[in-house]
Amino acid sequence: MFEKIPPASAIFLKWILHDWSDEESVKILKKGREAILSQKGGKVIILDINVSADNKKMDKKSIETQLMWDMLMMVHLNGKERSEAEWEKLFLTAGFSHYII
Ligand SMILES: C[S@@+](CC[C@H](N)C(=O)[O-])C[C@H]1O[C@@H](n2cnc3c(N)ncnc32)[C@H](O)[C@@H]1O
Repeated sequence: MFEKIPPASAIFLKWILHDWSDEESVKILKKGREAILSQKGGKVIILDINVSADNKKMDKKSIETQLMWDMLMMVHLNGKERSEAEWEKLFLTAGFSHYII
């Protein structure tokens, strides 16, 4: 996925980007973008945590789950869980013009 993602109208990245640093994630997203553009457009669909900036609206178990995954990614890999602002930065850096969460 750092070298080439085959042409497709949809790329599904489930539990992938949280494994990687921002720099590595941008590389993967750029390859995903190239893959959908070669099909005249499509979607890159990501399933990962969106860390809430306002965790007062969240229940205790959800907050603990986000923190646990963030620590796991930092300890075992070179990744992290990201907030919407962090996701937006990755998408825009990779060349996407818009996104929906
Ligand atoms: C956390 S697992 C998620 C797997 C799957 N999406 C799921 O939901 O169970 C991360 C996956 O990324 C794959 N992976 C790691 N480096 C990769 C690379 N350079 N190119 C393609 N896949 C890679 C691993 O083999 C692993 O299957």
